[in-house]
Amino acid sequence: MSDHVRRAVCPGTFDPVTNGHVDIFRRTAWLFDEVVVAAGVNPSKNRLFDAEERLAMLRRACADLPNVRVDGFTGLLTDYCVDNGIHAIVKGLRTGDFDYELQMAHMNATLAAGVETVYLPTTPQNSFLASSLIKEVASLGGDVSGLVPGFVHEALLARLGR
Ligand code: PNS
Repeated sequence: MSDHVRRAVCPGTFDPVTNGHVDIFRRTAWLFDEVVVAAGVNPSKNRLFDAEERLAMLRRACADLPNVRVDGFTGLLTDYCVDNGIHAIVKGLRTGDFDYELQMAHMNATLAAGVETVYLPTTPQNSFLASSLIKEVASLGGDVSGLVPGFVHEALLARLGR
């Protein structure tokens, strides 16, 4: 048995982090020695929350997971993995995600042979969650309080002026 540190990344945009993301972080933390939750921080007009806000929410969401840290990244995810000694990309897989996710997994495997992509099926209760849908529903006055951490819900209502 090799005694190398098993290090994984959970990448995403996290605009904002949802209960579905947090479930994947928790399960990844159980499977791996060290986990980096890495938020893509390339500037984009389409974000509701800027990079610092997203990272701050992620840090609160991961506060009770001792082997998880939060970071921002720009550029290729595979470059980030190689630069940080990360062997696995871990993502949640919802109904409908498969085709695009497999395309990305194959591209990432082509870019960095030593980095595996691992998919964890979302729990049934989280299988419909998406940050984009949560933002749309919240902006139209729907109740998303059970779908995101409490502090994310407050930030959403404040940002949307509700
Ligand atoms: O939460 P999202 O928006 O589905 O996350 C997408 C993300 C950030 C994981 C993906 O866009 C990504 O890996 N971006 C980094 C740039 C990159 O490596 N692109 C090639 C992917 S094959």
